[in-house]
Amino acid sequence: MSTPLASTDVTQPTVFPPAPAEGRLGILTVGLGAVSSTLIAGVELAKAGIAAPIGALSQMGTIRLGRRTDDRNPLIRDFVPLAPLDDLVFGAWDPFPDDAYVAAQRAGVLEAGRHLEAVSDALRSVQPMKAAFDREYVKRLDGEHTIGTISKRGMLESIRADINAFRDKNNLERVVMIWAASTEIFIEPGPAHASIEAFEAAIDANDPTIAPSMLYAYAAILEGVPFANGAPNLTVDIPALRELAVEKGVPISGKDFKTGQTLIKTVIGPMLRARMLGLNGWYSTNILGNRDGEVLDDPDNFKTKEESKLGVLEHILEPERFPELYGDVYHKVRINYYPPRGDNKEGWDNIDLFGWLGYPMQLKIDFLCRDSILAAPLALDLVLFSDLAQRAGLGGIQEWLSFYYKAPMVAPGLYPEHDLFIQLTKLKNTLRWMMGEEQITHLGREYYDET
Ligand SMILES: NC(=O)c1ccc[n+]([C@@H]2O[C@H](COP(=O)([O-])OP(=O)(O)OC[C@H]3O[C@@H](n4cnc5c(N)ncnc54)[C@H](O)[C@@H]3O)[C@@H](O)[C@H]2O)c1
Repeated sequence: MSTPLASTDVTQPTVFPPAPAEGRLGILTVGLGAVSSTLIAGVELAKAGIAAPIGALSQMGTIRLGRRTDDRNPLIRDFVPLAPLDDLVFGAWDPFPDDAYVAAQRAGVLEAGRHLEAVSDALRSVQPMKAAFDREYVKRLDGEHTIGTISKRGMLESIRADINAFRDKNNLERVVMIWAASTEIFIEPGPAHASIEAFEAAIDANDPTIAPSMLYAYAAILEGVPFANGAPNLTVDIPALRELAVEKGVPISGKDFKTGQTLIKTVIGPMLRARMLGLNGWYSTNILGNRDGEVLDDPDNFKTKEESKLGVLEHILEPERFPELYGDVYHKVRINYYPPRGDNKEGWDNIDLFGWLGYPMQLKIDFLCRDSILAAPLALDLVLFSDLAQRAGLGGIQEWLSFYYKAPMVAPGLYPEHDLFIQLTKLKNTLRWMMGEEQITHLGREYYDET
């Protein structure tokens, strides 16, 4: 009989404890739209002590260490060596030439008098570099601030040169890249993505299944820069780049920030499943009026988002295991572009469930949320934790960052964990593991076995 593998048998991280966060950390955002400008403004406001980084676990969260009776609950940022906000330097690419101040004004997320003016100098200093952009992949946008219609190889080299120029100019110790650009059209994994050799050949052949986002991700990995993907595009979630990231020891993660409706879904879904309540249907609809909504109004771009949103319930409810409860669920997700709302999204959920003896019930949720206010703290946590992962010697997929994503990347053959609280436990246990602290299993017998 084989011995079961306990979680404590997992080998220690290759770098133990993680190397300290010395020097300045560059954050390169692909896209300088609503999320990126809200992120940059928020970090500057937090640095100046004007506003609190609410929603960022890395800044406000604590972590329990040891027994419940030990009373050890440090802030996460005091427990692990995270880069301090004062050490962050922002750079970006965008096909529109607006600096972060103008981009933030146009996005209309933050109030000018209350927030933007106070950090206007810092925001104006973030001028986007010319984007590697191709309209074929984002049909509703027509920006001119691009490197032009050059070959895919040319795009790759240009992105690599930009990363290095940004690093040199700002005297950076380390750099992290995050995709906060528009959602690209739906692309399925194919032969061009299967190995690095095939991927390289496809770049030279200008193969249409190599999207600009893949070139950003490839450039990042080649330059030793961790990459996080806030959109549902395939991007770094292909065998060629996953394998290269492992080989080069570069952390990667994705896909698609888990902010509004899916955040709710990954809390309510596990509740139904935990209580063995049945489900007939779940209808989710959104109205939003920002540029993201405009891009998603195109069916090819919406398809990418839809795939990312739909998978969640399947994995949580496991209909094949519980056919009586979840074998016939009608799950529908709609996103409607409605300009008057701007970045203030409204997400409605109508849930038709059933209980004891099959009696039906309904649950209605109307989340009047703010898209970028929910996404910016996730972007901050992702860049700080990706940088930490690199200093802990962790390359490849960072499954512990699933907490932040709608469609978490996982090793081939594994199903993703979607339950928000399993994801949080995974994240915190990874931090404990990195720092050589005991895992918390919640067994709790120790409090009763000792007399
Ligand atoms: N805000 C949220 O709650 C949320 C949640 C999940 C995912 N997302 C995703 O995050 C991304 C950013 O959202 P947003 O609201 O900031 O959108 P946005 O439209 O305000 O900003 C995206 C920016 O990316 C730029 N861009 C497009 N293609 C580019 C390229 N090839 N290179 C560089 N820049 C490029 C656009 O010009 C635009 O300024 C979107 O893909 C969105 O779907 C957002």
